[in-house]
Amino acid sequence: MKENPLILSIESSCDETSAAVLEGEKVLSNIISSQVQHEEYGGVIPELASRLHQQHILKVVNKSLKVASKELNELDAIAVTDGPGLMGSLLVGNSFAKALSYGLGVPLIGVHHMKAHVLANFLTDNPPKFPFMCLTVSGGHTQLVYVKDYVDMEIIGETIDDAAGEAFDKAAKLMGLPYPGGPQVDKLASKGDPIAFGFPEPEVGKYEFSFSGLKTSLLYKLRDGLKKDENFIETHKNDIAASYQKKIVDILLKKLGQAAKDYKVQDLAIAGGVSANSELRRRLIEFCETNGYTAHIPPFEFCTDNAGMIGFLAYKKFLKNDFLAINSVPFTRGGF
Ligand code: KG4
Ligand code: ZN
Repeated sequence: MKENPLILSIESSCDETSAAVLEGEKVLSNIISSQVQHEEYGGVIPELASRLHQQHILKVVNKSLKVASKELNELDAIAVTDGPGLMGSLLVGNSFAKALSYGLGVPLIGVHHMKAHVLANFLTDNPPKFPFMCLTVSGGHTQLVYVKDYVDMEIIGETIDDAAGEAFDKAAKLMGLPYPGGPQVDKLASKGDPIAFGFPEPEVGKYEFSFSGLKTSLLYKLRDGLKKDENFIETHKNDIAASYQKKIVDILLKKLGQAAKDYKVQDLAIAGGVSANSELRRRLIEFCETNGYTAHIPPFEFCTDNAGMIGFLAYKKFLKNDFLAINSVPFTRGGF
């Protein structure tokens, strides 16, 4: 078997159409086309997402090959996210990947989106050492993952209601900011006072998360503030964003710290779209320095949805001959 196979990977689980070419562990190209069309609706419209994937996938795949300076006939395998995600969106990537693998006569590799997020931490010069604890925070998931190796991972706790990214997106929507809200809140928060407003502490199990109370508390604060002053949001937006963001980061790091202590790991990592958050990145490093842990944060381009991380896990599966049959039924993945 080829030691450094050339793998084309495709990601289309939500609102990013992405394709990457990897040679072994090395990412030669990572093309991401984000669907800004959802912005005006304040969230991802599934039907619109799948149609846009269909429009963009060929261009994105061609560009990934061009940037990598590779031809289709050089590929050793095709990889694709086969869940979890939006059904219609997954279908576009999977149909495309299946057709390509069949046409080229190369194997097809199905990749779990959330496991791939964790492995984005290996797309650096200084990856974590097994076993480590990863806090995976995205628009649909918030998970504490005990990572034993590249494929053997255990979810030890997750959110019982909203995901952390969802908490950011919903706050942004309440404040009249466009989707996705995380980067918007992050930007405002950098100019605000993080202790200007108080938010409630959720009472849940020790590795569980809950963000719906936080969102409701924000809703009431805005409603009460607007009753007294119609410019309340405009006047206080920076402080509101900073205080809300601080509370989310407090909750995330408290749980990660507890899990790290109980599982006696040395390395702590974050992954998923919310790991692009500047406050979470800064506070994780600070927390690890203070408590003697080693912090790992994926490079920015591999935090939000991207095919590079899909290709990395695909490479590990390629080495194990872990392939998908052309007639397999994808999208059935829930947990790990
Ligand atoms: O991993 P991802 O790209 O897609 C999913 O698999 O869900 O994560 C998207 C989420 C969105 O909720 C978005 O608002 C959030 O990541 N996000 C951020 C930041 N950048 C993206 N949240 C907070 N701060 C950011 N800088
Ligand atoms: Zn994701």
